Amino acid sequence: MEANMSQATADAEIAGPAPPALPWTVRIQLFMLVGAYDIALRADGTVNRFIFSFGDRQTRASARPDALGVRSADVTVDASRGLWARVFSPAADQAGSPLPVIVYTHGGGFALLSPASTPLDGMCRRFCRELGAVVVSVNYRLAPEHRCPAAYDDGVQVLRHLSATGLPDDLGVSVDLSRCFLVGDSAGGNIAHHVAQRWTYPSNSIRLAGIILLQPYFGGEERTEAELKLEGVAPVVNMQRSDWSWRAFLPEGASRDHPAAHVTDENAELPEGFPPAMVVVGGFDSLQDWQRRYAGVLQRKGKSVQLLEFPEAIHAFYMFPELPDARKLVKEMKAFIQSNKSNL
Ligand SMILES: *[C@@H]1O[C@H](CO)[C@@H](O)[C@H](O)[C@H]1NC(C)=O
Repeated sequence: MEANMSQATADAEIAGPAPPALPWTVRIQLFMLVGAYDIALRADGTVNRFIFSFGDRQTRASARPDALGVRSADVTVDASRGLWARVFSPAADQAGSPLPVIVYTHGGGFALLSPASTPLDGMCRRFCRELGAVVVSVNYRLAPEHRCPAAYDDGVQVLRHLSATGLPDDLGVSVDLSRCFLVGDSAGGNIAHHVAQRWTYPSNSIRLAGIILLQPYFGGEERTEAELKLEGVAPVVNMQRSDWSWRAFLPEGASRDHPAAHVTDENAELPEGFPPAMVVVGGFDSLQDWQRRYAGVLQRKGKSVQLLEFPEAIHAFYMFPELPDARKLVKEMKAFIQSNKSNL
């Protein structure tokens, strides 16, 4: 990280200021995660899952409320393909009127992590408690063993399962399943977009009340200004890791202009019922230009879209509650859910 800082200073005229100083707790976690990531992703496009498991701490679901009052349970969605979701429900004191449901798809370059990964489990607990929502975190199939559209199919399958079966009774909270929010971060933001695009109402009983894309993973063959100027400056995502992920996820031989990645193509179709969106962008995320273009496309297609900028934020900042921006983000998400849940 020291090297990144001095490089940023040298390139100040092109790159702007160095990334903000991060608390040491964040730096250590980033170091561990990105380190495990780089060791596990092989040049031949496969993942060494055994090695990655050492950097990927796991948390079990627990029926006993945690310090925040949140309980969790792993629910099987489709045993034949190993599809399950971790359901987080808030303390009973929040459960006056039916709670909104958030279907959450996690990040990890399409290839890594799961709802049981400790930082993601922790983030879903916070969302559950602070947003006053039931959170359903999807264990979608990972690349490169499962390429696109497997992850999109899994997200849709979870929505179908919710609309057919509902949530287990023993959660002890009442939910409003006619209104659902999709939330996804990074690669999970890409998945959330494609799930929303495939979900049609009224042939399905669940209506999507909104979609929140946290630094979604979109791209294309072009190298954008931010990708070029933040290379070697921004932590977490860079062009090398990003290109690896697209090669692992997109159909074999596809270019980054494939519609799964290149959602900013003006000719792309959006269904009538595509929900109101919130797009969250960080000033030290090399993917930011794609995300702003995406928000622009939604707007030109007449969709409700709120672009929320965090000029100082690195990619994945929301995973670290010690960062003020992460706390501010949860407040904004809460406001978005409040104002959009009664739209339908
Ligand atoms: C959704 O919420 C945002 C943020 O509160 C708001 O700006 C937007 O207008 C809402 N969209 C609709 C369609 O109500």
